[in-house]
Amino acid sequence: MAVDAEQQLRAYVEYFRDLGIHDFYRRGEPGAIEAAEVIAAVSSASPQPPPIVLEPAPVLVAASAPHHPQEGVIPKPFSFNDLAPVPQVRVAVSARPGALQAIRDEIADCTRCPLAYAGRRNIVFGEGDASARLMFVGEGPGADEDASGRPFVGKAGQLLNNMIAAMGLQREEVYIANIVKCRPPANRVPEPVEANTCAQFLVKQIDVVQPEVVVALGSTAATYLLGVKQSLASLRGHWHSCRGAKLAVTYHPAFLLRDPRQKGEAWKDLQRVMAEMGLKAPAKK
Ligand code: URA
Repeated sequence: MAVDAEQQLRAYVEYFRDLGIHDFYRRGEPGAIEAAEVIAAVSSASPQPPPIVLEPAPVLVAASAPHHPQEGVIPKPFSFNDLAPVPQVRVAVSARPGALQAIRDEIADCTRCPLAYAGRRNIVFGEGDASARLMFVGEGPGADEDASGRPFVGKAGQLLNNMIAAMGLQREEVYIANIVKCRPPANRVPEPVEANTCAQFLVKQIDVVQPEVVVALGSTAATYLLGVKQSLASLRGHWHSCRGAKLAVTYHPAFLLRDPRQKGEAWKDLQRVMAEMGLKAPAKK
């Protein structure tokens, strides 16, 4: 496939993924989408995605969950609430920075999943206020994050910074983490075994920080935090729960960079979060 066509196809696959559509079908299967169809639609120069109707995606299975695959049986998905009981005794505010450092020390030079061998340069643990009221969770580090060891420092990170500022907050006041802490090669979506292996650490980070609200950025974060594989459209606009916090779902900033028309919708999601937290947007200059 020509490089341009491949890039266009990748962009369209990402577009569908951001809409919560993960599963395409192999050549010849009923409802199959041929790559050629997608490329033809792309090259018709329409700014809209091609009008392809996909079937509902099957549910996700957590690798850490006991599971005995049987043909035709869809196992129950596992959410972050299911992965471990929420601790009865909560970490005191003064102990939280040290508790986060202990989690980082436990991760060490992690080789628990294949991402350790996929060209990772730095583990991106997460950063921010150890007692943040608000936590953002993205998908996984990209090239800039891998190089710096910090979450959301590239172009998507700049947009996330703007979103945080529009909420009247500073980046240092929130906590920012990802579903996986190592960069998936070529920025692909983390595989379930990678996300599920890494989940144990994000669970602990959430339990230490104890945010009031978690915002899942995009469908990968929503899928793993909630243990459901549904469209963003069906998850946005509702309050979900995550380890004692309220959880809201919104678009991933990288998606908003690709489709800025959805920024207004994302702002509606953030305004619901602000209302819940009693935050006021800063006065316009
Ligand atoms: N995208 C993510 O999901 N996370 C990052 O840290 C950067 C980009």
